[in-house]
Amino acid sequence: MAVQWTTNLAVGIDKIDDQHKEIFRRLNEFIVSMERGEGREYINKMLTFLQDYINAHFGTEEGFMSEYNYDEKSFSNHKQEHVKFSQTFTALKKRFEEQGATLFLGIGIQQQVNDWLLNHIAKEDKKFGIYLRKSGKTQK
Ligand SMILES: [Fe+2]
Ligand SMILES: [Fe+2]
Repeated sequence: MAVQWTTNLAVGIDKIDDQHKEIFRRLNEFIVSMERGEGREYINKMLTFLQDYINAHFGTEEGFMSEYNYDEKSFSNHKQEHVKFSQTFTALKKRFEEQGATLFLGIGIQQQVNDWLLNHIAKEDKKFGIYLRKSGKTQK
C-alpha cells in the first residue's frame, strides 16, 4: 500500500477518523488500479467519491469544530483549506468533462489527493485533534 492511515493521524472523533480511513482506502484502491492499467475506468468512481467526501466530510469536521469551540483563527484557516481543495476538485472534474478519463488526469487526481492527505489531514486535521485532547474534549 502506498499510503496508510496510522493512529498518529487520529483526530479522536470516530466519525472523522472513519472518514479519513476511507479516503486513504480509496486512494490506495485507485493507485492499485492505475498500476494495473485500469486507472481510467476508476477515474469516474474516484471523482464521484471525492464529490461526496467534500460534501459530507467537510461539513462533519466544521460541525465538530463549531460545537467544540475551536478558536476562530484556526477554524477559519481550516475552512479556507477546505474551500481550496473544493476548488482543486472542481478543476479536476472540469478536466474530466472536457477531456474524458485520460491517464494524465488519473495521475493528477492521485497527486492532488496524496498531497491532501499529507498536507491537510496530517497537519490541519491533526491540529484539531491536538486541540481536542489538550482541552480535555476527547480522551483518545
Ligand atoms: Fe479531514
Ligand atoms: Fe479538514
